[in-house]
Formats: sequence, structure tokens, C-alpha cells
Amino acid sequence: MDVISVIRTKRDKGELSDAQIDWVVDAYTRGEVADEQMSALAMAILLNGMTAGEINRWTDAMIASGERMDFSGLPRPTADKHSTGGVGDKITLPLAPLVAACGVAVPQLSGRGLGHTGGTLDKLESIPGWRAQLSNDEMLAVLGDIGAVICAAGDGLAPADKKLYALRDVTGTVEAIPLIASSIMSKKIAEGTGALVLDVKVGTGAFMKDLADARELARTMVRLGGDHGVRTVALLTDMSTPLGLTAGNALEVRESVEVLAGGGPADVVELTLALAREMLAAAGMTDRDPADALANGSAMDVWRRMIAAQGGDPDAPLPVAREQHVVTAPSTGILTRLDAYDVGIAAWRLGAGRSRKEEPVQAGAGAELHAKPGDLVTAGRPLLTLHTDTPERFAYALESLESAFDIAPEGTAFTPTPIVVDR
Ligand code: URA
Repeated sequence: MDVISVIRTKRDKGELSDAQIDWVVDAYTRGEVADEQMSALAMAILLNGMTAGEINRWTDAMIASGERMDFSGLPRPTADKHSTGGVGDKITLPLAPLVAACGVAVPQLSGRGLGHTGGTLDKLESIPGWRAQLSNDEMLAVLGDIGAVICAAGDGLAPADKKLYALRDVTGTVEAIPLIASSIMSKKIAEGTGALVLDVKVGTGAFMKDLADARELARTMVRLGGDHGVRTVALLTDMSTPLGLTAGNALEVRESVEVLAGGGPADVVELTLALAREMLAAAGMTDRDPADALANGSAMDVWRRMIAAQGGDPDAPLPVAREQHVVTAPSTGILTRLDAYDVGIAAWRLGAGRSRKEEPVQAGAGAELHAKPGDLVTAGRPLLTLHTDTPERFAYALESLESAFDIAPEGTAFTPTPIVVDR
């Protein structure tokens, strides 16, 4: 097999054979196919697409590049959730212990933030002592004892994806539906979960800005899951404005703990419960109401045990950034738009995110919102508070907020976007 003929096939809008896919994914993982050759192929896939059969085979080849985990020995059914990423998306933090408190085991292999979207592991690492890296045996032990574990995916899981995702990130080839779907689903299928709920974000702060694209991505992933024996459901959810009132690491942990304590912002609670109900149903547990587990403290108990099992102190004060800057409303009226992408960029520039994989993040940095679209705001009153340890970043963050919001005169009609757009 030679890589140039594989690239030419896709460049000329042809269909790759199973043998071509198996070979090119394996040869790339072993280093026989060079980065520049794989990036040409990824661009040809982005431009010319893949058939359902090609996507299935590509996913199989990525799974076969590494190990598969097996949770079949656990006494409970398993269900996992994956979000395609957004701003203020802290849902995994309350969701995993909540679903575990209802009797389903949640093996949540999570990632770090890159660019304007935050990462679950970065958020949890703001809890003093908490450790993201677990061996497969440690992960199984926490899952068996407590029912929920949130940790980094081991290097053995879909190594082809690790290499390819890093390459796509620097070659403008992330936004290809066949490549996103196979990337996400290869890791989830290799992880061995029995059921999977996908939270496919749509809006300015998401990968998919457009509803039709988000729908196609969701359908592609649901089909891949079904074809691989994983009961898979997708919700399309709004990411035109940040979720909740915080975007940043420790700020989002604080808000997640508020939700587990029975409070927290209404949109975070609504989405957490909607996803929990889907996970419980996909795992075959339809007799539990997750709202009870929030109200009676059992989800909080699982959270505390889960954090402690990974070295974290659930009672330790969370880090607070050294400096704050308040952005005030320039006029009085109805806040009709607060853009997720712009707030995400501001949080990133304040130090909550990274531009290169190896960069550290600031635990306390980020943005805190004092109003959400639909709220009445008053001229001169706080709209957002920016947090950072490095105040020279404020000016750069403020630039990204210059056209981040619209305020309409009082009495202007406002129709809120539903959180769950479709299922
Ligand atoms: N997340 C992934 O894991 N892979 C992608 O391709 C995009 C988002």
C-alpha cells in the first residue's frame, strides 16, 4: 500500500477501501506515514467527506490502534457523557456523581481545555491535591467503590486519535464531521461504556455554529455508537451564551458544588438533570429521579468521596485570582445577547485556558457573569467580573468583550433560546 494513492483517492472524491483505511491509520500511528501526508489526507477528508461505511471503518481502525477497557465485571450498568465542548460547560462535575448516586457507574474519561473551551481536568485540578492521572486499575477501583470517576484517558486508549487530533489542531482540519465523530467515538467505544449520552453543542461558543452541522455530527455519532453496541443518545444543546454564571477553572468548580448542594444557576441545573435522565434511561434505570439525589444530598456525598479518592480535599478553599476587574453595563435595558465565544476568549486570555498543550493554566482566572440574556441590566452596574493573577492580561481580555453583548431598551420583547434544542 502506498500513502500517495490513498491521498489521491480521497482528493479525487473516491471512497477509501477498508484495506486502505486500516493501513493508513496503522501506518500513521507507527510513524511510517509522515505528518505532512496525513495532514493532506485529513484536508481531503474535510473537503470531500466520507461515506458512513468509511467513517465506521476509520473509527474501527482508531480503536484497534490501542487497548480496550472492560467494565463488564462491575455490578452496576455503566453510562458516560461526552460534550463536544463549550464555554462554562462544567456539567460533568455535578453530573457524574449525580448519576452514580442513582445507581449507574460513570467512567468519565475527560480532557483538558484547548483554545476558548474549558477542560474538565483543568477545572478539577483547581481542587487542592486532586490528581487527574490514574492507572487503569486505580480507575476501576474508584469506579467500583464510589460509582463515579473523572480522570485523564490513559495513553493506551486510541493512540491513533491522540496523534491525529494534535495534527488536525495545527492544520486547520479539526472541523470535519467524519474526523470529529470518529475521534470522539473511538475513545468512547474503546473506553467500554455500555451507554453514552452525547451533548452536542450548537452556537457561537461551540465547534458547530450551525444547527444543520450539529445535527449531522450528532446523527453520525449516534449511528457509530449503535453500530458498535453502545446505546447512544444525543441532545443538541445551546452554546450561544455561556452555561451558568462562570467560565474558568476554580470558578466553575464553585458553581458545580452549588448545584450539588441543591442551588446553582437554573440553566446548569436544567441541563444536568436532562443529561442525567438520558444517562439513567440509556442504562436501563428509569425508576430513579435525579432531582431527588440533588435534593437529598446523596449526589454531594458521592462528589466528596470521588474527589477524596483522587487525593483532593473537598473542604479546602478554592484558589481565588489575585486581581479582579469589573465590567459595567453601558446602558440600562434588557441584555439580549452575551456571546459565548467572546466570553470564552476573555476567560482564556485571562489565563483560564492554554494555547499550547504544555502551558499551565491559572486556577483562579476566568469570567463571572452578573446577568444572563433576558435580564434587566442597569447602566453603571456590574455586568461581568474578570479574574486573573496577571493584571496585564485585563486589556487583552477586554478587547474580546468589545462587541460581546447587546442591550435593548427596557420593554423590548426577548425570546429565550431553550437549553435543549433537540434530541
Ligand atoms: N473532541 C475530540 O475528542 N475530537 C475531535 O475531533 C473534536 C473534539
